[in-house]
Amino acid sequence: MKVLLLNGSPRKNGNTAYATKTIVEGIEKNSSSTIQTINVVDFKVSGCIACDGCKANDGNCVIPDDTKNIVDKVLNADAVIFATPVYWWGMTSQLKAVVDKFYSSASKFSKQNKKIGVIAIGADSVDGKQYSLISDQFTCICSFLNWEKIFDLPFSASNLDDLQKSKESSKTLTNIHKFF
Ligand SMILES: Cc1cc2nc3c(=O)[nH]c(=O)nc-3n(C[C@H](O)[C@H](O)[C@H](O)COP(=O)(O)O)c2cc1C
Repeated sequence: MKVLLLNGSPRKNGNTAYATKTIVEGIEKNSSSTIQTINVVDFKVSGCIACDGCKANDGNCVIPDDTKNIVDKVLNADAVIFATPVYWWGMTSQLKAVVDKFYSSASKFSKQNKKIGVIAIGADSVDGKQYSLISDQFTCICSFLNWEKIFDLPFSASNLDDLQKSKESSKTLTNIHKFF
């Protein structure tokens, strides 16, 4: 299976970066699936302006950026893991900008039955409302695009190295390979 991991964190040495690295190591070591990571902050993705230009322009945004590049990577993956810090009870704006650009290819996506995983990392404890809000948002996105959400995991971590200090969280992240 070809797995794409979209890391929505702007911090290159934070908790989502650690989660990303641990998931990749687990899959590379224990699964025949391949995994590619995209740090969305390394791509220029402009905010959707609802002009429909992408639909008439082979998926290219009217604002020159990396929309087509990143959406094509999602189109080519069998499974996509969305990993995001919680920002104001939701995913980061950088990751949401990418999700908004799925608009350019929604009809193609809906024929793909893609498998989806969600990792949300916030400072609050995992019973906080933000995790169910993010979970529900991805449930709706998956329902709309005819995708299948295969896991959806909340983690509590605030300081840069909080997640890696937790043996239990590290084990859960390493074991994500079992889904693939
Ligand atoms: C702008 C901003 C908004 C945040 N909003 C929330 C929030 O609503 N709920 C929460 O639990 N944590 C919130 N946090 C804390 C981060 O989710 C948390 O520190 C996370 O571990 C950061 O991930 P990172 O290390 O990958 O950057 C916020 C942090 C920032 C910078």
